[in-house]
Amino acid sequence: MATVQPIAADSSSFVQREYSPAAKRALARKPALFINNEWVSSSHGATLIVEDPSTGREVGRIVDASDADVDRAVAAARAAFDDGRWSNLPPKVRERTINKLADLLEAHAAEFAELEAIDNGKPVGFAAMIDVPGSVDHLRYMAGWASKIGGEVQDPLGMPRGQVFSYVSRQPVGVAAQIIPWNFPLIMATLKISPALAAGCTLVLKPAEQTSVTALRLADFVAEAGFPPGVINVITGNGHTAGDRLVKHPDVDKVAFTGSTEVGKIINRSATDSLKRVTLELGGKSPVIVMPDVNVDEVAPAAAGSVFFNAGQICVAGSRLFAHRSIFDRMLEGVSKASGFWRPRPSLDPEGHMGPLVSKEQMDRVMGYIEKGKRDGASVAVGGDAAAANGYYVNPTVLVDVKPSMSVVREEIFGPVLVAQRFDTLDEVAKAANDTSYGLAASIWTRDVSAMHKLAARLKAGTVWGNCHAVIDPALPFGGFKQSGIGREQGRQGIEAYTELKTVIIQL
Ligand code: NAI
Ligand code: MG
Repeated sequence: MATVQPIAADSSSFVQREYSPAAKRALARKPALFINNEWVSSSHGATLIVEDPSTGREVGRIVDASDADVDRAVAAARAAFDDGRWSNLPPKVRERTINKLADLLEAHAAEFAELEAIDNGKPVGFAAMIDVPGSVDHLRYMAGWASKIGGEVQDPLGMPRGQVFSYVSRQPVGVAAQIIPWNFPLIMATLKISPALAAGCTLVLKPAEQTSVTALRLADFVAEAGFPPGVINVITGNGHTAGDRLVKHPDVDKVAFTGSTEVGKIINRSATDSLKRVTLELGGKSPVIVMPDVNVDEVAPAAAGSVFFNAGQICVAGSRLFAHRSIFDRMLEGVSKASGFWRPRPSLDPEGHMGPLVSKEQMDRVMGYIEKGKRDGASVAVGGDAAAANGYYVNPTVLVDVKPSMSVVREEIFGPVLVAQRFDTLDEVAKAANDTSYGLAASIWTRDVSAMHKLAARLKAGTVWGNCHAVIDPALPFGGFKQSGIGREQGRQGIEAYTELKTVIIQL
């Protein structure tokens, strides 16, 4: 089997490039919150560090919002919703304003890509190719819905026609609290704000404490795009304090969260008291099922990409490979070879395909899983180590000889770690793939149409891909079965999640 060269023990090969003047300016900004279209100071002086995970160095500071800060942001959003300054605008004005924000983001694409790479650790080339254009797409797609979403006229069953007029309309749900994670900071921000804005809601967005830089930079363009004050508010801070306060706030009508299943459950519980509307996009342990008929030379690199992309820090990571017994050894060899492509590099290396993990905490968590897997009896086929560098680099890792009960097979690792297993029959692989508390996504690799459809029907997952993986499109609903979440984002269903239905029955 091909082996990957171990990460150089010497940190000199992990030198981060110098930041551009624009990025330096954005990082040097005074910590502040964006409320009512103004940059305001926190009520207390607490800040959090902005760290470059490629170097482990502090590169800036952000506010760690206080309770009073959260209350102030919610009050701004509440007032902006209640007086109709946004929801009562003609839909075409909301559409144009959201599109203007997309234009401004696009005009600063290179800076956003660099900031995302510095803050999150992802390769700048991928940030430029995926994160920034993807964010623009989310805004533009949902902008169009502002003028498309409508209700319906429906006659009642039991009243004579002509004597009654009844219709069902959609109204914005109100103030949305939106809490997002650190793996795709800008995509998550735009994916959250765009349907809320299109529907006519106002919002308070709280990016993850590890990666708030691009959401703050986006806020710089909110007033210029033409949003009235209070429609978009961005606050930064810790989850268990600022996030918790936001979720429990009585003036919030809807909570939209993406992150860990653990916190998703906490949020769902806290929202119960006031029966806030909740959508949750949570973790996954997605299977990649490879049938015996495939071209292994093509599918093995794709399987590697499905788990090593974004250093495995993606909810739909293809972290469980099921390869048919007849091709298992060749798949393993192909994945091992392909993992060379994913050797970690500092995020601003233009040739890099995988960066460091987002934080020391995340690196320790991932390494902990690998060690636990080894103790439980798994063998390391590839990687398994971290670099002796100041950044948080973990090598692409493949574990074999695993059992269904092991934590590396059951739990979301959220790092570049693949567990590879064999199967013989379709029935067996369907059962094994579903043997998880998660149900976010799955991919099936085969040209056998019958096997494809049989498996697609049986897999308990919100998204099933055939001969591709991690294709997430703004026009198509996305969300999880089981403990991977509640509700759907994107597509028509995505904007509907920011509306309430109102039935009106008028006796004429
Ligand atoms: P997390 O779920 O704690 O953080 C995500 C967001 O939730 C952040 O903005 C955080 O500030 C906020 N938050 C945390 N606690 C909160 C609370 N009590 N109330 C309100 N907001 C709160 O995720 P974390 O700790 O950064 O990562 C832990 C694990 O979660 C990862 O290893 C991974 O397995 C999973 N995860 C999954 C993601 C996904 O996209 N499905 C994204 C990020 C993490
Ligand atoms: Mg957490």
